[in-house]
Amino acid sequence: MSHVPRIRTVTSFHALVTTPFADGVNALCWPRPLPNGFSEIVALLGPGEGLVDLDEARLLALPVSPAAQPARDLLLADLRLLRDHGLAPVLNCIHAYPRDEEPAAVPVDVYSFHADSATCEADTYLCTYHGPASEGLANEDARRHIDDPATRAKLLADYGGPDDAAFRDHLAEHCYDLHYAPAPGAVPYNFGLGHLWRIATAWPGSPVPPCVHRAPAHGPGDPPRLLLIS
Ligand SMILES: [Fe+2]
Repeated sequence: MSHVPRIRTVTSFHALVTTPFADGVNALCWPRPLPNGFSEIVALLGPGEGLVDLDEARLLALPVSPAAQPARDLLLADLRLLRDHGLAPVLNCIHAYPRDEEPAAVPVDVYSFHADSATCEADTYLCTYHGPASEGLANEDARRHIDDPATRAKLLADYGGPDDAAFRDHLAEHCYDLHYAPAPGAVPYNFGLGHLWRIATAWPGSPVPPCVHRAPAHGPGDPPRLLLIS
């Protein structure tokens, strides 16, 4: 299947924040070299569980060696860059995300391909610095779970009503409409380490389809992820 190019590379933060999503492009990437020192930062943070918030004070208090200064400087710089742009970035050290407790008709955790959604124009900014990076899926390779006839029939049976506007509201309420299965043979793309991404969300009036993405499979034995998100 021919693919519309979904990713555009930019060469500056200014271009990252000002380039409009158009012509089907729903992911902008500002590639950057990854400085040394992120393993040391993660080691200094020590063991943890789930998702640990890192603010500037915590970063500044870490006794990093000179070799890891570039990593800390980049984290601090990125937090400020996004904040100065009016955003509310959060830096997390992620040991594991919550998973769906039991398999449902449609998975709705962040390990499942999904679109972020917003009620008005809004984008998601993402950068992975350490550990496995986020993954994206071309829209041509993504199938909404709710459009799969067997899944929809199961959802309807659980709902116990007709396939009407109220049912569609019910799907949206549970975010079932935002989660996708990859087409057979589809190969996701990797967001890589150190690159700052701006991706399109699903919002009414968006000129492009939303960027479909997921958190990578990440088990207890895997290195923690350092992720900036806004
Ligand atoms: Fe997301």
